[in-house]
Amino acid sequence: MPAPRRERRKVAGSERVGVYTLLRFERGGLDAGIPGQFFMLELPGHVVPRPFSICLAPKGELGFLIDPVGPVTRELCELERGQEVSVFGPLGNGFRTDVDRPLLVGGGIGVAPLPYASQLMGKPPAILGFRTRHHAEAAKLVPKAEVCIEPTLVTELIPAVPMNVLACGPEPMLHAVHALVPDAQLAWEAPMACGFGACYGCVVEFESKSVRLCVEGPILNGRPPVLPVLNGSEEEKAE
Ligand SMILES: Cc1cc2nc3c(=O)[nH]c(=O)nc-3n(C[C@H](O)[C@H](O)[C@H](O)COP(=O)(O)OP(=O)(O)OC[C@H]3O[C@@H](n4cnc5c(N)ncnc54)[C@H](O)[C@@H]3O)c2cc1C
Ligand code: FES
Repeated sequence: MPAPRRERRKVAGSERVGVYTLLRFERGGLDAGIPGQFFMLELPGHVVPRPFSICLAPKGELGFLIDPVGPVTRELCELERGQEVSVFGPLGNGFRTDVDRPLLVGGGIGVAPLPYASQLMGKPPAILGFRTRHHAEAAKLVPKAEVCIEPTLVTELIPAVPMNVLACGPEPMLHAVHALVPDAQLAWEAPMACGFGACYGCVVEFESKSVRLCVEGPILNGRPPVLPVLNGSEEEKAE
């Protein structure tokens, strides 16, 4: 695994992709890592940084797909070329990409790590599900993607033939994928304040042990972890 570094990086560009924003930074000395790994992005004026999956790694840049759901993500989506952010990573355990017959599966903003995975894995088949056609515009970032819009669910499109599934999406989707494909590699989420194992904010129960999702995950194989219930972050309430 490449060593994580923390650097202040300038925004190289920002484009709307449906409801999401693709935010690109100058890469500097940072390593892009492997698909499924994440970076902590820290904005001035916010106490804690936030985790984001590496989405694309064009030459000299790092790209992140952001869903504007709260104060930090909304601010990130408004950043302009030349503005600076602290970028720390790559962090966590990514997907194993050296698998036979891979199938990428994404739901909503869970599409974020899949463009980079697709690029490094030679454009394998992909199934992506979204709430609306506007959300589904993000599918253009993943070549060869079959897209479904609710009420059709991604699990309805997963073929019966055995495939090595790499999936990222909302918790219910991950549970449904696990039920169909028990050895799928699944990208889980928990609130993360440090991203490197120091704060214990991301502890989840996994296979009867307490693990830090930022260190052991976010990609886990096997039984789904028991995740914390989130009802709006303290910072969101304060802001
Ligand atoms: C490893 C990892 C990778 C991620 N990659 C991406 C990505 O590529 N693109 C992206 O847009 N988002 C990603 N996220 C989620 C993103 O970090 C959160 O949405 C972000 O922290 C929200 O910050 P905020 O200040 O905008 O909103 P906050 O006020 O922090 O949160 C807004 C709402 O989202 C909920 N929330 C916050 N964090 C999480 C979480 N981790 N899981 C579930 N609900 C949460 C809160 O409870 C609240 O209701 C990732 C999370 C993890 C753990
Ligand atoms: S985010 Fe701090 S220990 Fe995982």
